[in-house]
Amino acid sequence: MTNTKKILVTGGAGFIGSHLCEALVKNPNNQVVSLDNYSTGRKENHILGVEYLEGETRDIGRLIDFTPDIIYHLGEYSRTSESFREPEKTWLFNVEGTFRVLEFCRTRKVPKILYAGSSTKLADGGDGRNQSPYAWSKATNTELIQRYGEWYGLPYVTVYFYNVYGTREIQDGPYATLIGIFKRLRKEGKPLTLVSPGTQYRSFTHVDDIVRGILAAAEKGSGDGYCLGPREMYTIKDVAEFFGGEIEWLPEKPGDRKTVAIDLSKTEEELSWKASIRLEDHIRDFLRDL
Ligand SMILES: NC(=O)c1ccc[n+]([C@@H]2O[C@H](COP(=O)([O-])OP(=O)(O)OC[C@H]3O[C@@H](n4cnc5c(N)ncnc54)[C@H](O)[C@@H]3O)[C@@H](O)[C@H]2O)c1
Repeated sequence: MTNTKKILVTGGAGFIGSHLCEALVKNPNNQVVSLDNYSTGRKENHILGVEYLEGETRDIGRLIDFTPDIIYHLGEYSRTSESFREPEKTWLFNVEGTFRVLEFCRTRKVPKILYAGSSTKLADGGDGRNQSPYAWSKATNTELIQRYGEWYGLPYVTVYFYNVYGTREIQDGPYATLIGIFKRLRKEGKPLTLVSPGTQYRSFTHVDDIVRGILAAAEKGSGDGYCLGPREMYTIKDVAEFFGGEIEWLPEKPGDRKTVAIDLSKTEEELSWKASIRLEDHIRDFLRDL
C-alpha cells in the first residue's frame, strides 16, 4: 500500500505558493503539482521536485487529469490597488477561476480545498470587502466556497492572510508589496515612498509563519475563519520608521483600507498557531545584512 498524496497548488510559482511547495515536497510521500498562469509567478521560484503546469485556473478541468487529495488554492489576482487598473483580470482570475476550481472539486469529488482568503474583507468594520475589485472578489469567493460546502458537502478550509513578507516577495514593479518596496529602496539608498496619510494600519506576517499556518489548517481545520496574522498592528509610517531614512510622500490611493481586524480565537484554539516572527526583528536583520 502506498501513502502517496497527490497535491495541487494553484499559484505555486508565486511568492507564498513557492514557499508552500517547498514545504510540501520535503515529505517524500507528497506528489506536488503547481498550476500557474505566470501573471505574477516566476520560473525562478520553481522548487526542485515540484511538477509545474502553465495555465489558467479557469481551464483546470482540461489541464488537471488526476484527482488531487487536496487543492491549495492560492492562484488568484493578488493586489488591491492594481485591481482598479485591471478589473477584467481580477474577474477572470478570481471570480471565474475560482468558480471553475470549485466545480472541479465538486465533479471530481476532491476531498479538501484550502482557500487563501484576504484579510481585506475584515478591514474598516467589514467595509473593506467593497473597497476594491480585488477585495470584493476575494470576499465573494470565501462566501462561494462556504455555499459549496453547504450545497454540495465540499470539505473546505479558508485561511486569511495579513500582509505577508519574506524571501521571494515582489520588490519591483506594479505588484510589489510594501515591505518589498521598502527593502529595495533602502538597498538603492533612495527615500522610502509612503502613501498618504501614513496612518493606515496593517498587520504583517512572515511567510514561514503563513506556511506553518496553511499546513496546520489543511491538517486540522474545517470551514471558514482561520486568521493567520500577528496581534501587533502598525501604521505604515511606523514601518517606514523601522527601516529609517528619508520619506517621500505619495498621494492617497483608492481602496487603501484604514484599519485592520483580526480574530485569532479559532486559529489559536483549533490549530494552536501563533505568529512567531516579528516584523521589527526581520527588518533589523535585513538592515544588519545590508
Ligand atoms: N501576500 C499577501 O499579503 C496576501 C494577503 C492576503 C491574501 N493573499 C492571497 O494569497 C495568494 C498568494 O498571494 P501571493 O502574495 O503569493 O501573490 P503572488 O501574486 O506572488 O501569487 C499568485 C500566484 O498565482 C498565479 N495566478 C494568478 N491568477 C492565476 C490564475 N487565474 N490561474 C493560475 N495561476 C494564477 C500568479 O502567477 C502567481 O504565481 C493569493 O490568492 C492572494 O490573494 C496574499
